[in-house]
Amino acid sequence: MARTTNHPIPHSSRANPIEVDGTSFALNGKNISYRFHVDSAAGDLILNHFGGPVTEDPVAQIIPNGGGWSNQAHLRREFPDLGRGDFRTPAVHIKHAKGFALCDFKYQSHTVMKGKPALHNLPCTFGSSDEVATLIVHLWDSCSAVAADLSYSIFPNYDAIVRSVTITNKGRDTISVEKLASLSVDFPHDDYDMLQLQGEWTRECTRARRKVDYGLQGFGSSTGYSSHYHNPFLSLVSPSTTESQGDAWGFSLIYTGSFNIEVEKSPQGLTRVLVGMNPCQLSWPLNPGESLESPECVSVFSDSGIGNMSRKFHRLYRQNLIKSKFVYEPRPVLLNSWEGLYFDFDESTIYRLAQASANLGVKLFVLDDGWFGDKHPRINDKAGLGDWVVNPKRFPNGLKLLAENISRLEAANSKETLRFGLWVEPEMINRSSTLYEEHPEWVLHAGDYLRSETRQQLVLNAALPEVQEFIITSVASILENMPVTYIKWDNNRGIHESPTPANHHAYILGMYRIFEVLTSRFPDVLWEGCASGGGRYDAGILQYFPQVWTSDNTDALDRIYIQFGTSLVYPPSTMGAHVSAVPNDVTGRTTPIRFRAHVAMMGGSFGLELDPDALPEDDKAQIPDLIALAEKISPIIIRGDMWRLNLPEASNYPSALFISEDGNQAVLFAFQIRTTGVHNYPLLRLEGLDPSATYKLDGERTLSGATLMNGGIQYRFGSDYDSKVVLLEKI
Ligand code: DGJ
Repeated sequence: MARTTNHPIPHSSRANPIEVDGTSFALNGKNISYRFHVDSAAGDLILNHFGGPVTEDPVAQIIPNGGGWSNQAHLRREFPDLGRGDFRTPAVHIKHAKGFALCDFKYQSHTVMKGKPALHNLPCTFGSSDEVATLIVHLWDSCSAVAADLSYSIFPNYDAIVRSVTITNKGRDTISVEKLASLSVDFPHDDYDMLQLQGEWTRECTRARRKVDYGLQGFGSSTGYSSHYHNPFLSLVSPSTTESQGDAWGFSLIYTGSFNIEVEKSPQGLTRVLVGMNPCQLSWPLNPGESLESPECVSVFSDSGIGNMSRKFHRLYRQNLIKSKFVYEPRPVLLNSWEGLYFDFDESTIYRLAQASANLGVKLFVLDDGWFGDKHPRINDKAGLGDWVVNPKRFPNGLKLLAENISRLEAANSKETLRFGLWVEPEMINRSSTLYEEHPEWVLHAGDYLRSETRQQLVLNAALPEVQEFIITSVASILENMPVTYIKWDNNRGIHESPTPANHHAYILGMYRIFEVLTSRFPDVLWEGCASGGGRYDAGILQYFPQVWTSDNTDALDRIYIQFGTSLVYPPSTMGAHVSAVPNDVTGRTTPIRFRAHVAMMGGSFGLELDPDALPEDDKAQIPDLIALAEKISPIIIRGDMWRLNLPEASNYPSALFISEDGNQAVLFAFQIRTTGVHNYPLLRLEGLDPSATYKLDGERTLSGATLMNGGIQYRFGSDYDSKVVLLEKI
């Protein structure tokens, strides 16, 4: 019996992003095709192609028994299961009431629609009927009366396909979903490299590339959150792929909880990629009639390198993921009190810091940790979390009055007055708090096991409706009673003890409800995510918060690595990046203020995190001009495309070019890490410009796009940590 089809569905993306011929399906992007069909014998979904555009299914000769020991090993299955002869890692694992763990999902029907339905309680991409089309394939396991709906939405302009899976129990017994990958895709016999973002606190999003080898390899998080350790993102590339050349597939999970990414090269040479929730923290019970939705996984393909893959993610996430009204708005230059004062402040020091900020031209003053707690004041990190009342000792006249006074300060060199922002960490609780005295049962715990602490704090169980209401009410009351225009939402530890594995996902669903309620009720507030820096920098968070504090490491050299790594998937507009004092508190390194500021300007939310009055006079004197430059180029960073020209891992001269949406302006960042003595400076070849256009560089010399891209441009650098920021304007 034939196991493949070879339907000549034409690649006509503009006319029809989804084409169906019987039970063969084609999803057509501008520059991609994704094609699969129903195997007529097994009813299984088999992938024919995911890559550059094709006009028919690539010819595949499937040998009936695989030519080897297993009869499924050669199949590229869209929704691989467990226990029926596919010995690779499965996308789905369900435990039935009778104890067996098989599934046998067969094609039943499909639905095609313009636009895209939203998930019910998870963040997800959105788009109009002109932007996105959706195919839902309905699968059915008649042995256990369980349905699986595979949803594929294609955004043709971004060559992006979004997949999610819904499992529905239509039987009479309760089942348990042990594993459910949002995405499963089987690549044909070939060699691949995998690229991931690994890290730690202060070292987030470090690029790591390795060869995909036989057997299972992968990474994930079991911390309860997406975590510093591994980001929920994977890229599969050809071994010769670079930033600007070659095939690159990107997979990004829209989820903030523990996740699991598996890459398995089978003995037959096929490579399977699975992306989804962490199965060790799932065991999700489904009663008769109930459904479980997986998060969405976004897949993007680029045939012109990793940089192009990143730009597709950036555009898609800005346009079709981030809901905030600020997504395309330049952000106010801010000063955050943390590194300048840490916990050591009171009303007068805060007002002085706000005055100093305004005098430099800062537009938003942010009061970080330490402003709250009455009976258990938060004067260090041992107490107060959970008690969201103003510390009366530190602020005897109330914080509201201080915030109003700060909001009256005029920012130098502008007509604006200073805005006021506040730090919160509402998911957490210290034992030393009134909240813990009143509600010890709200804390995540597992029976009588020790409630183990990190940074002297415990985690509230956001899966509980009463905890959700407490958090919503606490944050809403701050926003209703003070002139707060910005919130930094922090989260400083992972989840340890949990009542059940399923509680991990339930917690995240609870948090999404909280974020949804608060960000919809307060749409004019600029929300910034944070988790000890970038411990929760993921596509799920971006649905609600248009920016994230990228790392607690503000050392400018390290930040080039961190920000370039983060930009692999997340738009630069979403990165919080601040200038801090030197020697840097994390690394001890000293770099010039210009270098620190130039690096921070590559992030969408530029700011300062220092006490200006403690700076050397010369450094302080440079800040107003650096702020003016950051504000001038901000629209290009926020809305433009980023081209990583030289990577810090590969060059002493890392550089990036940001090009405005209309292509009329660009800003070049060029850095020298170490001075190299008598040595020629490299020619920096730009990318992404219009070769036939002429560009004026910093209002001075003019060069054509062709010369800038093919010939390059050379800059003279001085000492270590030197930098240039150059504005290009098309004339
Ligand atoms: C961790 C954050 O990443 C820092 O920026 C700061 O807000 C501290 N928490 C405050 O406790």
